Amino acid sequence: MVACIIPAMSYTIRPAKESDLDVITAIYGEAVELGTASFELAVPDRTEMARRYHELVDQGYPFFALEDGGRVRGYAYAGPYRTRPAYRFMVEDTIYLDAKARGKGYGKALLTALIEECTRLGFRQMMAVIGDANNRGSVGLHRALGFEITGTMKDVGWKHSKWLDVVLMQLPLGQGGATAPDKDCLPARMFALRKGP
Ligand SMILES: CC(C)(COP(=O)(O)OP(=O)(O)OC[C@H]1O[C@@H](n2cnc3c(N)ncnc32)[C@H](O)[C@@H]1OP(=O)(O)O)[C@@H](O)C(=O)NCCC(=O)NCCS
Repeated sequence: MVACIIPAMSYTIRPAKESDLDVITAIYGEAVELGTASFELAVPDRTEMARRYHELVDQGYPFFALEDGGRVRGYAYAGPYRTRPAYRFMVEDTIYLDAKARGKGYGKALLTALIEECTRLGFRQMMAVIGDANNRGSVGLHRALGFEITGTMKDVGWKHSKWLDVVLMQLPLGQGGATAPDKDCLPARMFALRKGP
């Protein structure tokens, strides 16, 4: 858990709990409905968000909530970038804040915590798949934490009556590609479990 004090505000970053899911569903739902960061078109309900939450945390992927003044203001999690097993040391990050909580440093704090935890767990690359090249908040946040743009997919989404690009931004974690992965780390163990005895 990370506790932090910034002027007139104190917040905590901690693992998200089942009881946070109402707020998480509302935060994400608003972003799906009004924004272009997510390429979903229909707002998922709490049951679906709970299914997604458990699918990740039951495997050991980190899922954090940022709480301030007793209220969850945002969340971030890491999940598999793609399911083909050679990708197992790579994660994709997801981060959403309540619209009123943006631009105050919460995003940077949450994503920093997620990067640290993924590094600790033994993942080697983190990818941001940013819906909409004009998402200055997300591009700015990832750039501020050292991610570099590694690709742009042009005109791949159609939402709110316009074509949207996807920007890929990548951050090496820990030793990145410089050394072989640790045989005992979480992603190595996840794969061994899936393969069976
Ligand atoms: C993207 C998001 C998580 C960023 O969180 P945030 O709390 O608003 O960002 P922060 O205040 O922590 O800012 C972090 C960095 O990004 C930069 N940044 C934030 N918003 C920005 C904007 N609109 N334009 C340019 N840079 C911006 C800041 O300058 C800061 O960099 P610095 O530390 O070098 O000054 C938040 O805006 C959000 O939830 N957006 C909607 C959902 C979304 O796009 N999620 C990402 C999906 S890939």
